Amino acid sequence: MNRRRRIYEGKAKILYEGPEPGTLVQHFKDDATAFNAKKHDVIDGKGVLNNRISEYIFQNLNDIGVPTHFIRRLNMREQLIREVEIVPLEVVVRNVAAGSLSTRLGIEEGTQLPRSIIEFYYKNDALGDPMVSEEHITAFGWASPQEIDDIMSLAIRVNDFLSGLFLGAGIRLVDFKMECGRLWENDMVRVVVADEISPDSCRLWDMKTNEKMDKDRFRRDLGGLVEAYSEVAKRLGILTESDNPAAKPGPTLVKG
Ligand code: TMP
Repeated sequence: MNRRRRIYEGKAKILYEGPEPGTLVQHFKDDATAFNAKKHDVIDGKGVLNNRISEYIFQNLNDIGVPTHFIRRLNMREQLIREVEIVPLEVVVRNVAAGSLSTRLGIEEGTQLPRSIIEFYYKNDALGDPMVSEEHITAFGWASPQEIDDIMSLAIRVNDFLSGLFLGAGIRLVDFKMECGRLWENDMVRVVVADEISPDSCRLWDMKTNEKMDKDRFRRDLGGLVEAYSEVAKRLGILTESDNPAAKPGPTLVKG
C-alpha cells in the first residue's frame, strides 16, 4: 500500500499520489505536535478520529455549497482529495477569546468577542507561523486581493456552519484554523477549503461544563485527548460505541 508515491509529509498527515491525475490521498497520522513541533507525542486513535470528523465536516460543507478539496473517505485513515495549490496562510476565525489572542491582547479566556474576528498567519515553520496583515499578504504575493476576499467569505461561511453544527451537539466553537487551496478546473482557478478541520484545528468547549474537547488537552497536558475527540464524534452522530477507538476492550459478558 505504501508503495504509492509520497508527495508530502507534515506533522499530522501524509499526502500520497492519488489514483487519478489531479487527486491525492490524505493520510491521518496519530502524531500530535504543539508549539511548532517542540512538543510531540503519538496518540493512538487520533488519526482515525480526525479522518472521520474532518470527512463529516467537509462532506457537509460540499453539500451546502462551500467548495472544498474533499472527494470521499477511502478507509479508516485516508481520504481522497483534489490536488490544490495551498495558499501559504493559516486562517484563524475566533468567536471567543482564547489562546494566543488572550495572551497577545490580555483578554480573559472565555470572553465572548464583539464579533467574529478573522486573522491570518504566514505558514512557515522556520518562522513559527507569524501573524500577518492583508498588506503583507498582497505585497509578498501570497494571495491576491480578490483571493483574500474569497478566503474571508469562505471563512465566514465555514464559521457559521461549524458554530451551528457544534451548537447542536452541545459544544461551543471558540475558534478554528482553516487552510485554503487553489483548484484548477480547465482554465478556471478558484479558492476552496483544504487541509482538515478537526479537534486538532479547533477549540471546542462543552457548553455546560466548559471542558476542553480539542488539542488543548495535549498542548496543556490535560490528558484524555482520544476520549474527548471520541465524544465530539459521538455527539456529531458519526461514531457508534462499536467503532469507538477510545473504548477499551473490556470483559465480555457471556449470558448463560
Ligand atoms: P491560537 O490561539 O494558538 O492562535 O490558535 C487559534 C486556533 O488555531 C486554535 O483553534 C488552534 C488552531 N491552530 C492550529 O490549528 N494550528 C496551529 O499551528 C496553531 C498555532 C493554532
